[in-house]
Amino acid sequence: MEKEFWLNVWEDGSRLGFHQENYHTLLLRYFTKLETKLGSRILVPLCGKTWDLEWLENKGLDVHGVELSPIAVKSYFTERGLEYHCRGSQNHAIHSSRHIHIHCGDFFHLQEEQTGKIDAVWDRASLIALPAPTREFYYKHMTELLKPGAKWLLVTVDYRQEFMAGPPFAVHEEEVRTHCEKNFEIERLETLTFHPQGEKFENAGVREMGQKVFILTRK
Ligand SMILES: C[S@@+](CC[C@H](N)C(=O)[O-])C[C@H]1O[C@@H](n2cnc3c(N)ncnc32)[C@H](O)[C@@H]1O
Repeated sequence: MEKEFWLNVWEDGSRLGFHQENYHTLLLRYFTKLETKLGSRILVPLCGKTWDLEWLENKGLDVHGVELSPIAVKSYFTERGLEYHCRGSQNHAIHSSRHIHIHCGDFFHLQEEQTGKIDAVWDRASLIALPAPTREFYYKHMTELLKPGAKWLLVTVDYRQEFMAGPPFAVHEEEVRTHCEKNFEIERLETLTFHPQGEKFENAGVREMGQKVFILTRK
C-alpha cells in the first residue's frame, strides 16, 4: 500500500512538494558532524531525486541513494544530462554515474553486500515519509546497515498527527530515543518551529511544525 502510494506520487508528478531544487540548508550546516573522509560511503535512504546526492559527491564521498521509484531514479540522471549505467536485478537495479549509485528498490531489502559498509547517513524526508509501524522496521534496518562509529544525520518534524494524515509523519524525539538509544549515541543539534507552506497543511489546520536535527553515532 505504502509502496503503491509513492510509486503513484512519482507517476502523477503533482505531489512532489518535498523535492527541493537546491541543496538542503541543514546538510550544509551540519555536514561536518558526519565526520566523513574522502571516499567515505554515505547512504541517502529514500532519496527521491534530491540534489543533495550531487553535493555529497562533490565533497569526495561515495554516495549510495536508495529509491523505490524508477521514475525518480532516472530523472535524477537525465535532468543533469548524466550518462549512467545499470547493473543488478529488476528488483534491485543499481544506477551509477561517477561516485553516485542509486539503488532502485525497497530500502528494507537493501543488503550490506550491495553497498559495502556505510560510514554516514543523510536522512531528510526519509524516516518521516513512513508511518509508525513501518518506522519500527526502519530503525532496525538502519541499525543493521551501519558500522560502529557511523554517523546518521537525521531531520524530523513533529506536529499533532490527529490534524493530518502523513506524509510527512510526526516523529517525536521520544520515539527516536526509544528505538535508538540502545544502539546509538544521540545528540540533538537543533530545534525550531516553522510554518509549513502548502494547501495540504492549510486545509488540515496545521499552522506550526517542530523540526529537530539529530546526529546519531552507531555504538
Ligand atoms: C518524502 S520523499 C523524500 C525524498 C528525498 N529524501 C528528498 O529529500 O527529496 C520520500 C521518498 O521515499 C521513497 N520511498 C518510499 N518508500 C520507500 C522504500 N520502502 N524504499 C525506497 N524508497 C522509498 C519515495 O518514492 C520518495 O521518493
